[in-house]
Amino acid sequence: MRAWTATARRVREEIGQEARYRHSIGVARTAERLAIAHGLSARRARTAGLLHDLARLWSKDRLLLEARRRKLPIDAFDLAHPVVIHAPVGAELARERFGVTDAGILSAIQKHTLGAAEMADLDAVLYIADAVEPGRVYDGRAAMLETALQDLDAGMRAVLESTLARNAERGLTPSPKTLACARAYGAVIPEELLHA
Ligand SMILES: [Fe+2]
Ligand SMILES: [Fe+2]
Repeated sequence: MRAWTATARRVREEIGQEARYRHSIGVARTAERLAIAHGLSARRARTAGLLHDLARLWSKDRLLLEARRRKLPIDAFDLAHPVVIHAPVGAELARERFGVTDAGILSAIQKHTLGAAEMADLDAVLYIADAVEPGRVYDGRAAMLETALQDLDAGMRAVLESTLARNAERGLTPSPKTLACARAYGAVIPEELLHA
């Protein structure tokens, strides 16, 4: 518990913004609930949640620079939407600055924004927790959390379908990673996104 408090304090300093820090705590707690509900490690889920957004407030230029410096793969979608690079860069920061060596935690942080064709349960827990933590305010949030507490795959489908519906509404093409993730979970993909 002492270690947790010390880490949380460092995360608060590292992020440097109260709202983003509170979101990180909300994601950590929600990830922990989901992990316990599904017989996964509460500690790993909590750590992934706390550390997932370390680079979320970085500028586009800084994200691109730091990703290139670390030779992280950057695809066309990332270049068009550099904010998504905060996920892989965040995983690197968790390793470099917080000493995280657990590949499962690092993977969950890496995949938390776009998802991926292959998701471990811990990846899914963080992906869902990021979308449904109590600090987020939108219709259907609590229902999606309830669904995910009952059934992790159904929770993934619900979050992916809500994300894709929002993309379709705004005329935004999702990342190929998100589409691959949606296919892997059998989520319904809006017709217009299939021909984008
Ligand atoms: Fe994020
Ligand atoms: Fe987040």
